[in-house]
Amino acid sequence: MAAPLPAASGDDPCFAELIARRPHLSRHALDGLVMEEVPLARIAEAAGTPTWVYSAGALRRRLGLLRRALAEANLAATVHFAVKANPNLAVLRVLADAGAGADVVSEGELRAARAAGIPPSAIVFSGVGKTEREIRLALAEDILQINAESAEEVEEISALAAALGRTARVALRVNPDVDARTHAKITTGRSENKFGVAISDAAALYARMAALPGIEPVGIAVHIGSQITAGMAPYRAAYARVAALVRELRAAGLPVARVDCGGGLGIPYRDEPAPLPEALAGAIRGALGDLGLPVMLEPGRWIAGPAGVLLASVVREKRGATHRFVVVDAGMNDLVRPAMYEAWHGILPVAPEALVAPLSPAGVVGPVCESGDTFARARALPALRPGALVAFLDAGAYGAAMSSTYNARPLAAEVLVDGARFAVVRDRQGYDALLAGQRLPPWLGREPGS
Ligand code: LLP
Repeated sequence: MAAPLPAASGDDPCFAELIARRPHLSRHALDGLVMEEVPLARIAEAAGTPTWVYSAGALRRRLGLLRRALAEANLAATVHFAVKANPNLAVLRVLADAGAGADVVSEGELRAARAAGIPPSAIVFSGVGKTEREIRLALAEDILQINAESAEEVEEISALAAALGRTARVALRVNPDVDARTHAKITTGRSENKFGVAISDAAALYARMAALPGIEPVGIAVHIGSQITAGMAPYRAAYARVAALVRELRAAGLPVARVDCGGGLGIPYRDEPAPLPEALAGAIRGALGDLGLPVMLEPGRWIAGPAGVLLASVVREKRGATHRFVVVDAGMNDLVRPAMYEAWHGILPVAPEALVAPLSPAGVVGPVCESGDTFARARALPALRPGALVAFLDAGAYGAAMSSTYNARPLAAEVLVDGARFAVVRDRQGYDALLAGQRLPPWLGREPGS
């Protein structure tokens, strides 16, 4: 038995709480922090740091919990993982094998979904800026559904499909003008946001869709925002408006085959109360159940967020004016969420002794030359020597997916853990790859490096 863990100072959850709430993580007296059956230290040894590490078991479990909640609410539902949250092919394959389809927003995501083995018949294409090339690809692949976001896009899909002799299955994404009460940068369902068509314009546009060549109108889609934790009221309000619209369309004799309920279900990064899938299923059932239609869901974060960590090494500790800084080898170019949304991510030391050592406040920062490259301002952590490992929690969604090479820092490696096995599923970017594709213009003479 490992010794009990010390309590954290302040309001932050302590290490033991952070671990206990994430069933794929555990603490071993000799191995320290372990994901499924693999010590994270072993992964760092094999793959180096910084490295994203995903638990296949957690991905399967969370998708399963979501599907079960929908089934128990008697909903005929399909889950289309929002690829934007994590486009890693191994992650997509795990989810596809467990029955998920995909929600994509670009040619790259469509290609990733197909490369991971997700059939076109399980792929939805969302997004406000689909290019002509992307619409053509969606038509050529004959994907399940295109979610159109404007009258202009509807006309373009019709013209392209008719010219190709195809029929596009199109759902209309409506903007229900509901406040999801989440971070301003990730709310999408207000009338001032760029997403969807005003719900007051939707019936006329849907009728137009039914009259246009090359389009089969298949339903209504709605997505009001991401990291929704403030209860089910915003969802209920949005779905009630969608239900009223569907009734109006039916009364007008227009066909509605399904409703796409979007994503957005939040997760507890710190210890915020977060709704469970049962609550979302209940909200869908309550507002849309009477319509007797199949529903689709597009969750990203809820499935993948808690399933991943970003593993980093301490470069050194540095004395600051008010408290120490722990400088790690991961930066805002890897995990941008704290810099971009003031997001809180749990930070756990990996070594067994560090998990039980005395704590004191530390700023946790990356090496990037911006003050925003700060993961935590005053976090209770043990003293950490150079080379000590730390894990940033809940980094499986919008982690690697949003990373960049800012400060000419190569993209980190990605590892999948599955029981006692693990594999590097994306190599760390090399420096040749980092510079690849660049060349000097002929008038500047010699090639770079020569
Ligand atoms: N469907 C649509 C149309 C979306 O725009 C999104 C997310 C989703 C589904 C999936 O939402 P989720 O279930 O993951 O909340 N980078 C931000 C999140 C941006 C979400 C954008 N759209 C973050 O790191 O918090």
